[in-house]
Amino acid sequence: MTVTSARRLEQSTAGDIKLFSAFTISATVWLLLATAVGLLLSFKFPYPDFASSPYLSFGRLRPIHTNGTFYGFASVALTGVAMYVAARSSGISLWGKTYAWGALWCYNIAATMGTITLDLGINNGDQEYREWVWWVALFFVGAVILSAISIIGTVANRTERDIYISNWYIIGAYSFTTILGVTAAIPFYQRGLGQVAVQGFYMHNAVGMWFTFLALGTTYYALPKLLNRPIYSYALGILGFWTNLIFYPIIGAHHFEFSPLPWWFQTLAIVFSVGMLVPVFAGTGNFLLTMRGGWERIRRSVALPFIFVGVLYYFVGSFQGTVEALRSLQTIWHLTSYTVGHSHATMYGFITFIAWGCIYGLLPKATRKQPNSLATGLHFWMASIGVTLYVLALSVGGTLQGIDWAQGDPFIASVESAAPYWVARAVGGTMMFCAHLLFAYNVYLMTFARSRESEAAPIVAGKATA
Ligand code: HEM
Repeated sequence: MTVTSARRLEQSTAGDIKLFSAFTISATVWLLLATAVGLLLSFKFPYPDFASSPYLSFGRLRPIHTNGTFYGFASVALTGVAMYVAARSSGISLWGKTYAWGALWCYNIAATMGTITLDLGINNGDQEYREWVWWVALFFVGAVILSAISIIGTVANRTERDIYISNWYIIGAYSFTTILGVTAAIPFYQRGLGQVAVQGFYMHNAVGMWFTFLALGTTYYALPKLLNRPIYSYALGILGFWTNLIFYPIIGAHHFEFSPLPWWFQTLAIVFSVGMLVPVFAGTGNFLLTMRGGWERIRRSVALPFIFVGVLYYFVGSFQGTVEALRSLQTIWHLTSYTVGHSHATMYGFITFIAWGCIYGLLPKATRKQPNSLATGLHFWMASIGVTLYVLALSVGGTLQGIDWAQGDPFIASVESAAPYWVARAVGGTMMFCAHLLFAYNVYLMTFARSRESEAAPIVAGKATA
């Protein structure tokens, strides 16, 4: 290699690190903002008169929280990791960095304008996770397309013949989400039941084909890398990929059981929800078997405990989703707080923990700046205990709420039954938010702060490895 080409490669790799850092910083800002709003919302349940200005009303703040966590935080955090993974696993520097920077701008314009318009009461109606008005959503779709161009360009220019399994999932996420974004935007069949069917398709696949694919893809890179051993089975990874593609797109209608949607369509969604056990067993089995015998290394790592909890919640949250889809249980749990517990088991316990694990595992390798070990340990335990309290409290509170409704008790009786559990959720939420402040401090250390030579200590015991 000549001196000039070596310098070019070095500059290009430095560009990858800048991008990874910028995506992570941006995602962290949105995590803090959107979960501060989530925390405020959680206090409004037991104390409904708290913060009663229209700009702080539940109806405006709820979509600000959900869209902010989805599109400002999780999408940006996982895209930053995905770009880094695509480049490293392709053996080259990221292709099309200008597209990648353009994507980051578009994600941020969408999240900022989305937050402002929602707070002013300007929205797309009550279509969950697509409450942003069309021109705001267009920025988000633009960001997905620009990210896809950069990532697909990187994989197309790879040095190896085979496409590593991570990139199957990552490219799958961008391709499917582009289709999803366009389907959600086309207006002419979105009337009456057509709109309900599209809504089910959109809301479940935003979780299933976007966040789940990105989290699985990045785990397939970060886990073997941090454990320093190959993935247990490549074939299980491929099985998970295709079975996710077969079962996921149809299951959205399980959100609308007992609605006027055709009964056979609802039944199909339930059957495919049971089918989802195949990719979930394939994915979690593959990850846990890769970890088998590596517990000492996991205990000594700052990043791997986050990935371990993420994998456990992937299994628990997905299994819960399958069970929840059965009609007999929907009669109790439909529209109760139980569902919100399930959303946080999956979006927080699984997706957010995987994003943190990948960032703690890969960002210090890129920037050569370590997080603070005490802050990382506190982050891990507060977030783990906080989300577990959140999920358990709403599972019990939501079930009591549903039983009261099924018995035909006065509505206020269900509020009284759930109220203590809503307080417990606010306590769990406070712990989660404090954990986010510690994560933000660590992101500062891993990016802006002056380089420190000391290695980070592990979360659980012994000497740190990653
Ligand atoms: C401090 C942490 C958090 C707190 C306190 C919190 C709190 C809340 C509250 C109070 C709601 C409204 C629930 C309702 O309408 O009954 C909610 C909804 C939701 N949040 Fe969070 N949240 C947090 C973090 C997150 C994160 C990080 C994500 C995703 C990455 C997330 C995703 C969601 C989703 C998807 C919903 C809609 C749930 C549904 O309707 O099923 N939240 N959250």
